[in-house]
Amino acid sequence: MTDHKKYSVVIAGGGSTFTPGFVLDLIKSQDKFPLSELKFYDNDAERQEKIAKAVEIIIKERAPQIKFSYTTDPKTAFTGVDFVMGSIRVGKYEMRNMDEKIPLKYGVMGQETTGPGGMAYGLRSIPAIIEIIDWMEEYSPNAWMINYSNTIAIVAEACRRLRPNARVINICDMPIDDMDRMAHICGLDSWHDIDFNYYGLNHFGWWKEVRNKKTGEDLMPKLKEYVKEHGYYVGGDYDKDTEASWIQTFKKVAEEYAIEPETLPNNYMQYYYFPKWEVENADPNHTRTDEILEHRQKIVFGECKRIVDAGTAEKNIWDIAGLHSEYIVDICHAIAFNTHEKFLANCTNNGAISNMDPDSVVEVPALFGADGIQPMATGEAGRFQRGLMMEQQTCEKLVVDAYVEHSYNKMLQALTLSKTVPDASIAKKILDEMMVVNKPYWPELK
Ligand code: NAD
Ligand code: LMR
Repeated sequence: MTDHKKYSVVIAGGGSTFTPGFVLDLIKSQDKFPLSELKFYDNDAERQEKIAKAVEIIIKERAPQIKFSYTTDPKTAFTGVDFVMGSIRVGKYEMRNMDEKIPLKYGVMGQETTGPGGMAYGLRSIPAIIEIIDWMEEYSPNAWMINYSNTIAIVAEACRRLRPNARVINICDMPIDDMDRMAHICGLDSWHDIDFNYYGLNHFGWWKEVRNKKTGEDLMPKLKEYVKEHGYYVGGDYDKDTEASWIQTFKKVAEEYAIEPETLPNNYMQYYYFPKWEVENADPNHTRTDEILEHRQKIVFGECKRIVDAGTAEKNIWDIAGLHSEYIVDICHAIAFNTHEKFLANCTNNGAISNMDPDSVVEVPALFGADGIQPMATGEAGRFQRGLMMEQQTCEKLVVDAYVEHSYNKMLQALTLSKTVPDASIAKKILDEMMVVNKPYWPELK
């Protein structure tokens, strides 16, 4: 690679636990997606600095040609960039903890991006993402924002309505994780070896087709045989570092598949098919947030401190590529080099799922290139899937209504309609408690 332009990237949410892994993958991909500059932006200077000081050392040692800086000033952050990576968590883990634990008090599943927790998180994220889009448009009008800050379905619906022409693409890596498992189940190397047809909403979808990308072989029969016994659990070396709750999640897919055996489900369907089981199996005092604080967050910040103390990043825990960051680099590359590669995107339906509303957000395959994304037609959703999607999508739209109209009732309707909430009186109790703790982030709902 010689004369191609070099790119300038800003990571919004520089203090994210995913940032160092992403930086390492960016460095490894310099012949594919070359950078001139990398910036971090966060609204928590102290948290960001802990990651940035380690990244400074990593870049100095491995890619000194990349100019690196970090800031809390939007103008400095968003000026002169080609790509904005959205990796923020509004309210941080403190608020995710509330999203998970408040519903559980009332016997309702507590989860980051699904059910009442996902709606609360979505409502917190909307203004922050819109603000970042506006800064990007003001300071770097030709840039693209690749956003993976959750709750993606709600954020994408807000973007569709409030910033319809913005150069923002809302993506999710969860299907990649499932597809990488499918590849291994079929004896292939990675998700790159798989071609697919998939449709749904974010964290809510189904594979209609899975093929060997090179040979075109239909892999569905082989996968269905495997999945009905083991779900997407691969085992062996592949799963040696997989956390216990994720192993349970991948195994649970066997039961989800049994309900609708024409397609293969996204593993997040567990929350909608088995909400009662989720509650029974949850520890209301120790949820996924606690697991992450004890595991991923501790490891990431511990490793950053170790690097800073040692003054070198030789041999670090991110030297093995993560699916999440690898996927984002691939997407940037597709846009930068106009490759029209196929990835999943959360975008306006416009017929992509023929029997869903055109003006709704869906997650479907799309071709990624210099002009953004071209969603692909996926055909018709099955009756069962369509019913589920209509309900879930309406919840997501109601949350955006609640944001726009500052409407308590719309938010109450969103929670009441959720498949995970048994009735309106429980929805109200959860909402009233959530409103108190979310005061600094939500619009005032009247
Ligand atoms: P984290 O809490 O470790 O980091 C998020 C960072 O965002 C923090 O440093 C925080 O200070 C910062 N932040 C919060 N609000 C901000 C704002 N308004 N402006 C600027 N910075 C702000 O979070 P994490 O666990 O690393 O996750 C980051 C995001 O990525 C989350 O939204 C998470 O849900 C999402 N995620 C998405 C996918 C996907 O594929 N879609 C996968 C994993 C994680
Ligand atoms: C995260 O990694 O924070 C989530 O997006 C998924 C999870 O619960 O680990």
